[in-house]
Amino acid sequence: MDNIVINGGRKLNGEVKISGAKNAVLPVMAAALLTNGTCVIKNVPCLDDVSVMVSVLQELSVRVSWHNDILRLDCSQVSPVAPSPEILGRIRASNLILGPLLGRFKEAEIGACGGCSIGSRPMDLHFAALEALGAKILPLEAGYFAFVKSLRGAEIHLAFPSVGATENLLMAAALAEGTTVLHNAAAEPEIADLAAFINAMGGRISGAGSNIITIEGVKKLNGAEFTVMPDRIETGTLLLAGAMCGGRLYLKGARFEHNTALLDAMRQAGINFTYNKPGDSAYIEVQSAGGRPWPLPQIVTASYPGFPTDMQPQLTAMLCLAQGRSSVCERIFENRLTFVNELKKMGAAIQAHDNCAIIDGVARLHGAVVRAPDLRAGAALALAGLAAQGCTVIEQAEYIDRGYEDFVEKLCSLGADISRQSKFNTVVCGKPAAAFRLVV
Ligand code: EPZ
Repeated sequence: MDNIVINGGRKLNGEVKISGAKNAVLPVMAAALLTNGTCVIKNVPCLDDVSVMVSVLQELSVRVSWHNDILRLDCSQVSPVAPSPEILGRIRASNLILGPLLGRFKEAEIGACGGCSIGSRPMDLHFAALEALGAKILPLEAGYFAFVKSLRGAEIHLAFPSVGATENLLMAAALAEGTTVLHNAAAEPEIADLAAFINAMGGRISGAGSNIITIEGVKKLNGAEFTVMPDRIETGTLLLAGAMCGGRLYLKGARFEHNTALLDAMRQAGINFTYNKPGDSAYIEVQSAGGRPWPLPQIVTASYPGFPTDMQPQLTAMLCLAQGRSSVCERIFENRLTFVNELKKMGAAIQAHDNCAIIDGVARLHGAVVRAPDLRAGAALALAGLAAQGCTVIEQAEYIDRGYEDFVEKLCSLGADISRQSKFNTVVCGKPAAAFRLVV
């Protein structure tokens, strides 16, 4: 169990580069299974979830080499064996091998996937969409077996715009016979990135990034080279760090058009920021005196382009310092407010009721020993610690490494007093993480 230790109250200043997006690179890695060629994926973040996905692919006999931010996936020897439940159970995104294995091999045996304990996270929408293409899904003692004689395109309506179900459907339909039209599809930018990768492989997908996506099935997909989009949640997390601590942060590569709901909330809270004109090189810069933000009376998480659930904990942490009462309602996951009790330990005046956090802002938070219940809540507690007076120790900090590349190092470079204590050693400000990983 790792701890992150923060001595809060320092301003943050400087420039950091936004890493590749976790929630884009994971489906792109799965989509490589659609070809027997070799794919080269660039701007790959060095994250624990990416390492787990590499292990999943290796169990399917993908030959992987990973050097710095470039992943090379040779999929010529892939076979649809069932990866070990221990590995599949470590991340939610392991469920994304279902669509490509069905598309390429017409069968897939998969154990239960994992993921942050933020809700029940069933797979019914994935199964309904794949069954509409003709697949049969049989429950096994632990997991399920999917098979089909031949996938046929169909008109499909998702009951809810599930990101993962949209991604699995896109990958399976890419090799189906005929055309598929997916209605009420998820419109997150990561979906558009996945579609762009599949099109680079020779696929024919249009409308990705909207709620109606058309997929014309093709007979074969080829290896391709692709650069993953920047991480919009890392962007939002660092923007709020700057807003809460005061200072000036320049986020190189940040895409304002991926963060409009958050930027609108920041504007309403009185936080100043600028960003590039369309066509210029991408950045967002936040400049804050570190004063208290205005309260936000009705934040409700929603599917894209609504306010992102993955930014809900971080915004809630910022609103603990607001000049009045705010309300943040979580409407995507049923168990994503457990970190409220941890914020209370730091002096926050916050109550959770009916999946809404009611927050009466206070002038100051104080350091405390807190425990990260999941990835984004861990990041939210770190933001609170950065802004608090005194020392904060975040237990179970390894959750944060699942979704943020060089989290401690980047904040150190901006002036934070933050360090990591693991069972092996203590990384103090500034020591770089591993420069490369070679996996053969
Ligand atoms: C993706 O998860 C992201 N993960 C999540 O990010 C993100 O919070 C979520 O989309 C919503 O934006 C990855 O991309 C790896 P969903 P996913 O299917 O695909 C219900 C992070 O912190 N649902 O859109 O699992 C589900 O229970 C992570 O980076 C069903 O009911 O999300 C949830 O309530 C956390 N049946 C809602 O839909 C299904 O078959 C949204 O889930 C599928 C989903």
